[in-house]
Amino acid sequence: MEIIIKNDAESGSNAAARAIAKLVRENPNAVLGMATGSTPLNLYNELIRMHQEEGLDFSSVTTFNLDEYIGLSKDHEQSYHRFMWDNLFHHININPDNVHIPDGMATDIPAACSAYEKAIVQAGGIDIQVLGIGSDGHVGFNEPTSSFASRTRIKTLTRQTVADNARFFEGDESQVPRHCITMGIGTIMNARMNLMLAFGEGKSEAVAAMVEGPVSSIVPASILQHHPTAKIFIDEAAATKLRLADYYRWTYEGKPEWQQDA
Ligand code: F6R
Repeated sequence: MEIIIKNDAESGSNAAARAIAKLVRENPNAVLGMATGSTPLNLYNELIRMHQEEGLDFSSVTTFNLDEYIGLSKDHEQSYHRFMWDNLFHHININPDNVHIPDGMATDIPAACSAYEKAIVQAGGIDIQVLGIGSDGHVGFNEPTSSFASRTRIKTLTRQTVADNARFFEGDESQVPRHCITMGIGTIMNARMNLMLAFGEGKSEAVAAMVEGPVSSIVPASILQHHPTAKIFIDEAAATKLRLADYYRWTYEGKPEWQQDA
């Protein structure tokens, strides 16, 4: 794991955007895994800026989103389809045929999940997966005690996640779907690189458990300790509970130039 501590969410997100831009410039057919929620908004703004001002070309890029709520149609205000088109895809030159987001209205959910897994394999696998972390340590919507071997499937959100996400549903927990389709932890671990973003004091406990705690399904994101190329972009507020924060800063500041990809 590489822990990258930046002053604020914006500089952390910009560093993650540089890693994505580097990949897309080197490989125009790159396959990107996308996340939703508050965390990646600055990252997506920076990718939009890079597209508009620097010509970053997404025309041959393929994307796969981590998850979607079950029961929300694609045009529902809080669906992750809508989120992705509003916050990124409408503003870059992505080919809509190359965009994949789990279908929360699928009638046969297990079949839709296995088709999603197959589509990832057919695309050649995910090069870079963007991740956020839940306050309960979830990654994707793999809630605590999710199997580390899991693939794309239906999951039930925890009460804590429903409460956390009620802010997107006018604070009304009863409006938050209880079920979702999410890539599994096994799916996420197959990505060639994982970029985890976490900002703000509210994420500090989950970040410390993910980075320095034992690897345990009670903190699903802790599995990233076993990923060969996981970069964790956090701000100072999210770093407050890390025992080795000074070591991570010292390592990042001392990175040789040839290693500076973010
Ligand atoms: C979203 C996702 C979730 C979020 C996590 C953090 O696609 O998979 O794991 O990344 O719930 O959400 P925010 O960023 O809203 O704090």
